[in-house]
Amino acid sequence: MSSFRVAVLASGTGTNLQAILDQLHGQNGIEVVAVGSDKPDAMALERATEAGVETRAFPTDAYEDRVRRDGALGDWLDESDADLIVLAGYMQLLSEQFVRRFPNRIVNVHPALLPSFPGLDAIGQALEHGVRITGVTVHFVDEGVDSGPIVLQRPIPVPPSRDRAELESAIHRTEHALLPEAIRLIAAGRVRVDGDNPRLVHIDPD
Ligand code: GRF
Repeated sequence: MSSFRVAVLASGTGTNLQAILDQLHGQNGIEVVAVGSDKPDAMALERATEAGVETRAFPTDAYEDRVRRDGALGDWLDESDADLIVLAGYMQLLSEQFVRRFPNRIVNVHPALLPSFPGLDAIGQALEHGVRITGVTVHFVDEGVDSGPIVLQRPIPVPPSRDRAELESAIHRTEHALLPEAIRLIAAGRVRVDGDNPRLVHIDPD
């Protein structure tokens, strides 16, 4: 059986990357083959190196513009022969050219129930808005900001205290389960975008 090759892009501490490495890497035919970042000193790159996975940084200021940066990133991902590109806390907007190069092959994890609270600081936006339920979304990436077809969502009640740290830790725990679950489903070939309605994602039964 040929393996399902996953590349991960991350800018920060990489706890979502770690969940992927711990729960999926080297199991059931899934391999993490490359981890990229815009930040050369991201802890995510250290976690990848520790797991023996190839890494590379693509700092924005090393390129003339975003399109060239994403061109280099895309070439590297193609060389790694990645089947799926996972954005796990990748804090750069990807160019339209990059997104079109990998149609329905990029997924992102977002700390809110989209389409509510897209963009930066989704947890702060939800608290500010006064919602009682928020959650986590895994979606395919399209040319918009957090606007692509939704693969999985899980709701999380806002704690009565409305304490940010408490909500953040509940969201992160959920992300660490939901993102690997989505990748596992995609790797198993059970996730399909509807032929008539490109917003709709079908999950085939086991
Ligand atoms: C996650 O909350 C993700 O949803 C957001 O950035 C955070 C990344 O955390 N986009 P980590 O680097 O995986 O720890």
